[in-house]
Amino acid sequence: MSREPDLVIGVILNGVTGRMGAHQHLRRSLLEIRRQGGAPLPNGRRAQVRLLLVGRNPEKLAALAAEAGGDVRWTTDLHAALSDPEYSVYFDAQTTDRRAAALRQAIAAGKHVYAEKPVALTSAEALDLWRAAHAAGLGNGVVQDKLWLPGLQKLQHLVASGFFGRLLSVRGEFGYWVFDGRDVPAQRPSWNYRREEGGGIILDMFAHWRYVLDRIVSPVRAVCCVGATHLAERWDERGQPYACTAEDAAYAMFELDGGVIATINASWCVRVRRDDLLVVQADGTLGSAVAGLRRCWIQPAPATPRPVWNPDVDQPLDFFDSWIELPDQRPYDNAFKVQWEAFLAHVAVGAPFPWTLLEGAKGVQLAELAHQSWRERRWVEVPDLAPELSDGHKAP
Ligand SMILES: NC(=O)c1ccc[n+]([C@@H]2O[C@H](COP(=O)([O-])OP(=O)(O)OC[C@H]3O[C@@H](n4cnc5c(N)ncnc54)[C@H](O)[C@@H]3O)[C@@H](O)[C@H]2O)c1
Repeated sequence: MSREPDLVIGVILNGVTGRMGAHQHLRRSLLEIRRQGGAPLPNGRRAQVRLLLVGRNPEKLAALAAEAGGDVRWTTDLHAALSDPEYSVYFDAQTTDRRAAALRQAIAAGKHVYAEKPVALTSAEALDLWRAAHAAGLGNGVVQDKLWLPGLQKLQHLVASGFFGRLLSVRGEFGYWVFDGRDVPAQRPSWNYRREEGGGIILDMFAHWRYVLDRIVSPVRAVCCVGATHLAERWDERGQPYACTAEDAAYAMFELDGGVIATINASWCVRVRRDDLLVVQADGTLGSAVAGLRRCWIQPAPATPRPVWNPDVDQPLDFFDSWIELPDQRPYDNAFKVQWEAFLAHVAVGAPFPWTLLEGAKGVQLAELAHQSWRERRWVEVPDLAPELSDGHKAP
């Protein structure tokens, strides 16, 4: 029996020389998809990818293309790339401040668009991009990788299965010590610490908190946040000192639908003594869970120890002992790759892809409202971003 030929989807990758572009999107996602023989489609066929790498530095691009092998092409001319009909998808992993303009160009060129978060610097800009892509009938999406982390998938399953009884609260701890770059090289790019270049932990991380809370726990209704620039000076990639103009920590509370209270601390100035770089604890009447990036532990109500406050003696309980680690009941693939496969299936055969630019705009909105809360020192409500969609109109 002859097999139907595979579909080939041309993907333009911009910002591919960066940390996320090169590692997560090119190496860990698209090259893996090529290696495994394409992205599986719901109709049993597969989508192959043809790649065009875009950036500023010809040497870096040529090296990445050589590493990728096959027919991977590269160019420093974004306009020419967008004019090439062989490529129907534009992906953007540039620094955040460059994203909106490039997405707008790609939409005008009739490309389906997929982008790293945050989608834009303001929610108004992000919403405009969604409206433009939607009106043109183009596929569109934003990276929401944390949804496919094994630890958070296990947590999502617990919430969906009713494990917690009535869910009371969620507390997230995110962060690690990012070296200032003077004696030990920094692990993050210097633009992350400059507001004028799209930096700041609020814009960076609240784009994640929005979809993690909305989709795994319950929709976010209000936010109260205080940020801080704990380190005023850092040293950049060339060893030069620079002033930090963006916050490097954010301490936030959220009210969620159903009365759940969430607190999430995020900091690049914290030393880790916890299970993982991101740890989310959820407590409910019938049990609690703690999720890291890959692992997840539970403590059902009947296994809850009964501590008694007595600072005169060493704590007799080992609080880590009474937790049960959940097994991996199935294999977990790279989170970015799983979402790429879903986007390719969306473009190829219209498979559902709910992680649209509108969802990306909601992430930017939460960051904006957190900034407002910090500035005005008060709680801020989170309104519907596109109210026209709530009465019967559906997002694509
Ligand atoms: N999903 C996640 O978990 C996650 C994690 C980290 C970063 N990000 C996002 O990914 C994006 C990239 O972050 P990164 O850490 O990879 O940054 P990076 O600095 O390592 O890479 C940025 C890319 O943008 C390109 N670029 C920068 N200035 C340019 C210019 N003037 N002209 C053309 N290209 C330019 C660089 O060449 C590079 O390819 C950011 O928007 C960030 O918020 C997402």
